Amino acid sequence: MESRKILTAVVVWRRFLVLALFSLILSLCAEDQVSPGEYAPKSGQPGKDVVWVANPSTMVEKLLDMATVTPQDYVIDLGSGDGRNVIAAAKRGARAHGIEYDRDLVELSKRNAAKERVSDKATFEKGDIFESDFSKATVIVLFLTPEMNIRLQPKLLDLKAGTRIVANTFAIGAWNADQTSIDATNCERWCTARLWIVPGKVTGTWKLAEGELKLKQVYQTFTGMLKGANGSAPVAGRMRGEEIFFSSKDTQFTGRVAGDAIEGVARTAGSDRKFRATRIGN
Ligand SMILES: C[S@@+](CC[C@H](N)C(=O)[O-])C[C@H]1O[C@@H](n2cnc3c(N)ncnc32)[C@H](O)[C@@H]1O
Repeated sequence: MESRKILTAVVVWRRFLVLALFSLILSLCAEDQVSPGEYAPKSGQPGKDVVWVANPSTMVEKLLDMATVTPQDYVIDLGSGDGRNVIAAAKRGARAHGIEYDRDLVELSKRNAAKERVSDKATFEKGDIFESDFSKATVIVLFLTPEMNIRLQPKLLDLKAGTRIVANTFAIGAWNADQTSIDATNCERWCTARLWIVPGKVTGTWKLAEGELKLKQVYQTFTGMLKGANGSAPVAGRMRGEEIFFSSKDTQFTGRVAGDAIEGVARTAGSDRKFRATRIGN
């Protein structure tokens, strides 16, 4: 009887040891290791216009992949939290900047960037995204709310044509994303990545060899009318940054918009010719 009690105690004690060891390994593997006494943000903690929730690590990489971030880019994260998107972009060789209202998160981001040895490329400022200038960005990262995205929309649409905007989950008002992708395998919550490419602006009246082209643009798509010697024909097309694609009757136009000029190729029945259009009115 006594030996059975001892055996049970040994088994219980061994189970406890295994569990303790397992918990220790798990805690060592945890993503957000913090030293005792160091500031650690809590998911859902209040922020100025939205709480802090960290972008899941797979989504950090997915958003940067979608934006095709390269060392030539200048990435700005609006509401940069603990700096993870900015630091990941800097690790890809890009210059990256975070604008964050919470001072503790800004200081934490700077420490995290230093730990990852990217402080030269990853910078942070304490600021309100609605009062900040982010016009120099070539890539914008958003993980905010639908309302905040709508408030930002005019400034986002005004960025240089070709600027990529990536967001976790939420849309930017009625501006349809150019690409959407859901990570259903490695991500539990907040797993939808969206990409928008700021379109060049083409609304107006354009003169070209074929006649006069009147266009009305809504975000990255447009419709209009091409008036030539043989009458008028409707036009429909879309922008991808500075690139323009449209068709009218049996002709497809492909080109690039630079200010008040469009240059490209027009294809009719398999035969190509160059075209140039100049904006003559708004
Ligand atoms: C959902 S978190 C996203 C954090 C980070 N971008 C990420 O992907 O992990 C939103 C962040 O925006 C910050 N924030 C809220 N309102 C802000 C404002 N008006 N200006 C700057 N930052 C703001 C919050 O403090 C929070 O860190």
